[in-house]
Amino acid sequence: MNEFSEFQSRLQRPLDVKLSDFQRNERLKHLIFAAQLTPALLEKLRKMADMIRQLSRTRDGNLRLKHMLAHRRAMLYFTQPSTRTFLSFMAACQILGITCNEVRDPSTSSEVKRESKVDSIRMFSSYFDIIIMRTSNPIFSECCAYLMNELESADQRSVPIINAGAGAEEHPTQALLDMYTILRTFSHDYSRESKQSKFIEIQKQYPDLSPGPGNKTYLFCGDMGRGRTVRSLATVLSQYDNVRMFFVAPDYAELAMDRGLLRRYRDRGVDVHEFHSLDATFDGRPILALTDCLYMTRIQREHNSDKAEKDLAALDLSPFQFTPLRATVLKSYAPIMHPFPRDSVTNEIPTEIDSDSRAMYFRQARNGMWIRAALLVHLFDAAEELIDIYGEVRR
Ligand code: NCD
Repeated sequence: MNEFSEFQSRLQRPLDVKLSDFQRNERLKHLIFAAQLTPALLEKLRKMADMIRQLSRTRDGNLRLKHMLAHRRAMLYFTQPSTRTFLSFMAACQILGITCNEVRDPSTSSEVKRESKVDSIRMFSSYFDIIIMRTSNPIFSECCAYLMNELESADQRSVPIINAGAGAEEHPTQALLDMYTILRTFSHDYSRESKQSKFIEIQKQYPDLSPGPGNKTYLFCGDMGRGRTVRSLATVLSQYDNVRMFFVAPDYAELAMDRGLLRRYRDRGVDVHEFHSLDATFDGRPILALTDCLYMTRIQREHNSDKAEKDLAALDLSPFQFTPLRATVLKSYAPIMHPFPRDSVTNEIPTEIDSDSRAMYFRQARNGMWIRAALLVHLFDAAEELIDIYGEVRR
């Protein structure tokens, strides 16, 4: 941690105080924390992602997109395992014509010659126009953003930093694609694409169901302690009105949701409850029957201590498996989400569920490509150009 000591005083500030360091007026300068994803920004990014998605359906639209950011280069610095986040960022760059380069194994970079991580990142910023990074160190991307801000203040070259997963703490771009999926599910806006909006059909059956992420019950299941995707998504959802969250995890301290975060959500008015089985009940009804959106996760074994490894091996994980029988209890419209990868041994979502019309996880992953492309357009301040291209191609 020593090499980050110069950032210590900034790192220790409360989150709310830090956020303005990563903004340029209304626009993001860097994306480091899920708390930066406000409802207004999400709405803006959702519209842009929908435009990119529609433009990419035609050859003309594709070619126009490909020219948009063809003068930009991205560095994908991913020293922690990744399939979806890495590939979807790469695909997003390709959609927009951004050239991608990668470092996935620090042993192939000068870090083996004892170059500090901070120096490596500053070097990347000399050659590339944006740095997208995933590391096991939870503070690394935040420190890189401070470094870029310092360079900018000194009138030197500075580029945006995107946190693509930081230790067990934050995964803001996963929250972004999860929110895009949730916004699309609970919206009237998609009638043009599918002739009839699915949400209108749902509302006929459930007239009380309102559009948007508010007024809903979210059930998170699996590893609530070390799952950064859950923390990031719950943090974003806690901004909406009348949200209820059920956290379902084994009765084991390391797998429980962070107490501080739960307090923060409660302070914001979220109705928060914890359970130790998917079959649990609340107010006399099965929690699955009350759920508007299900978010399954795997147990993050790579974070296990030796003791946890032994303890967890002895644990019965079947109460945390979304079996076909449990699927019959879930509301008929509730999307079944999962950030993936799913664990093929524990089977928190057995493959039989894949054919369920509510299974959203593959579409959710594809949504990641569109919304990450929208994020890149936003960070490069090219939103107006996108709107112009959309207008011209659709005319
Ligand atoms: C997640 C991650 O890396 O945190 N994966 C992802 O980005 N889609 C979830 C996980 O690894 O379980």
